[in-house]
Amino acid sequence: MNDTTAGPHGTAPPEAPAAGDAPLVELRRAGKTYGNVRALYGVDLTVRAGRVTCVLGDNGAGKSTLIKIISGLHRHTEGDFLVDGRPVRFSTPREALDHGIAAVYQDLATVPLMPVWRNFFLGSEPTKGPWPLRRLDIARMKETADRELRRMGIVLDDLEQPVGTLSGGQRQCVAIARAVHFGARVLILDEPTAALGVKQSGVVLKYIAAARERGLGVVLITHNPHHAYLVGDHFGVLRLGTLELSADRGEITLEELTDHMAGGAELAALKHELAQAGGVRTDGLAEEPPIADTFPEGNP
Ligand SMILES: Nc1ncnc2c1ncn2[C@@H]1O[C@H](COP(=O)(O)OP(=O)(O)OP(=O)(O)O)[C@@H](O)[C@H]1O
Ligand SMILES: [Mg+2]
Repeated sequence: MNDTTAGPHGTAPPEAPAAGDAPLVELRRAGKTYGNVRALYGVDLTVRAGRVTCVLGDNGAGKSTLIKIISGLHRHTEGDFLVDGRPVRFSTPREALDHGIAAVYQDLATVPLMPVWRNFFLGSEPTKGPWPLRRLDIARMKETADRELRRMGIVLDDLEQPVGTLSGGQRQCVAIARAVHFGARVLILDEPTAALGVKQSGVVLKYIAAARERGLGVVLITHNPHHAYLVGDHFGVLRLGTLELSADRGEITLEELTDHMAGGAELAALKHELAQAGGVRTDGLAEEPPIADTFPEGNP
C-alpha cells in the first residue's frame, strides 16, 4: 500500500491541499474494540490542510485510542478510515508515515543525551561519500536542522547542546519541526502541553499555529479547553468513547467548550457534594451556566 503523495523523506511538505477536495484524513463512524472493551465508537472526524482539529476529553474518553488508529498503531474495528479520500487500514506507524501522517508523543519524541541537530535526524541521517567510506554528513545535518528550526521560528542558542537540557516546550518544538521537515502533512500531537507551564505551553501553541500556516493538518489532543481554543479551528469532545460534541470555531465559545469539558451538570453535583462534606469553600465558585442547547450533535 504505497499510493502516497508525500514520502517521509521529502525535504519539504507539500503545501497544497490534497488532490481534489478530499480531506487529508477522515473517520466515518469509526470505532475500536479491545477484546470486549468498546474504547471508541461512531466517531466522525475530518482533518483538513491548514486547520487545527482539537480533540478533547477526560481520562479514558478514548483520545489515545483515536490517535493510535490514525497514526497506524492500532487498527479500527468499525467504520471507515480514509486518507486523501481513499479507504486505508494501516498495520504499522511506518505505513501512516508513508502517507504523511506523523505523531509526536510527549516523551518518546527525542533522545535526551544527543545534541539537538542529531535528534533532528534520528533514524534518517544523511550520509556522504562512496561506500565503504560513507559517513554521516554532519555539516549538512547541522545546517539543515538550524535552517528548519529557524523556519518554524525556533531559535536555539546552541544546536550542540543535548536535547535533555532543553525545556519540555522546546523539545516538543524540535519534534514538531522535525515532523514538518520530513514531509508530514498530518501532524498529531498527544497532549503536547500537559506537563508544561503557562509560558512553555504558549511556545508550543505558537508552533502549532506555525505548522498550520505551513499548510499541515494538525490534530491536537488536549485536556485543556483554553489551549484548544487558542489555536483550534474545530473542536471535538470525546466522552465514554464517542464524540458528544463536534463544532467549528464559529459555533462555540470558549465558555461553552469549557463547560462541555468540565461536564456542567457533574460539576454542579460535585460542588453540592463538597458543600455537604464541609471544610471546602464553594461559596466563591460561579454558578454553572446552563449548557447551551445550540450545539450540533455530532457532525453535520
Ligand atoms: N490496549 C488496551 N486494551 C484494553 N483496553 C484499552 C486499551 N487501551 C485503552 N483501553 C481502554 O479504552 C478506553 C479509552 O482509553 P484511551 O487510552 O483511549 O483514553 P484517553 O482518552 O487517552 O485517556 P487519558 O486521558 O487517560 O490518556 C479506556 O476505557 C481504556 O481502559
Ligand atoms: Mg491518552
